Amino acid sequence: MAEHVRVLLAEEDVDRRIQEIGDQISKDYDGKQIHLICVLKGGSFFMCELAKRITVPVSLDFMSVSSYGSATKSSGVVKIVKDLDEPLKDKDVLVVEDIVDSGRTLSYLLEMLKDRGPKSVKLCTLLDKPERRVVDVHVDYTCFQIPDEFVVGYGLDYDQRYRNLPYIGVVEFD
Ligand code: IMP
Ligand code: MG
Repeated sequence: MAEHVRVLLAEEDVDRRIQEIGDQISKDYDGKQIHLICVLKGGSFFMCELAKRITVPVSLDFMSVSSYGSATKSSGVVKIVKDLDEPLKDKDVLVVEDIVDSGRTLSYLLEMLKDRGPKSVKLCTLLDKPERRVVDVHVDYTCFQIPDEFVVGYGLDYDQRYRNLPYIGVVEFD
């Protein structure tokens, strides 16, 4: 079956919006240093673009998580595949995600990070699908709210492909 990607958010629109959010974050964190946490792999493209547009001092760390099998998925328990390198004690942490969908992964992750004694924890996401939310998650910065469609690009994959697209699109099958 042939497939193609329909553009949902063009590269210029995504870049412009990341600049706006970067400006807002720089203002909100004036006088502070931000510890950005990238949730691999999806958040990596967005985090790099966002970090380039933040004007206050920034440090970066990465983590990778995966959901446990479907039987426990509803509990939102996630397994840490790669943990952070640095402690979070007294840091102003900003978690950078590609997309908030059901919210299960993030609500679990945020609670876990808060237990490590950061000064603050906020969440920034490139995309939000509010219609899909199962667990309530407070999102501090959202670039775009999108309808309930499966999207790829800017770090998001379909079977590990399409992460490198410089825009956000929807995979369609002909
Ligand atoms: P949830 O919020 O716990 O349901 O998990 C969100 C995760 O599911 C994201 O970090 C993505 O890895 C993946 N995901 C959700 N929606 C999409 C999509 O439309 N395209 C690609 N990945 C998605
Ligand atoms: Mg993700």
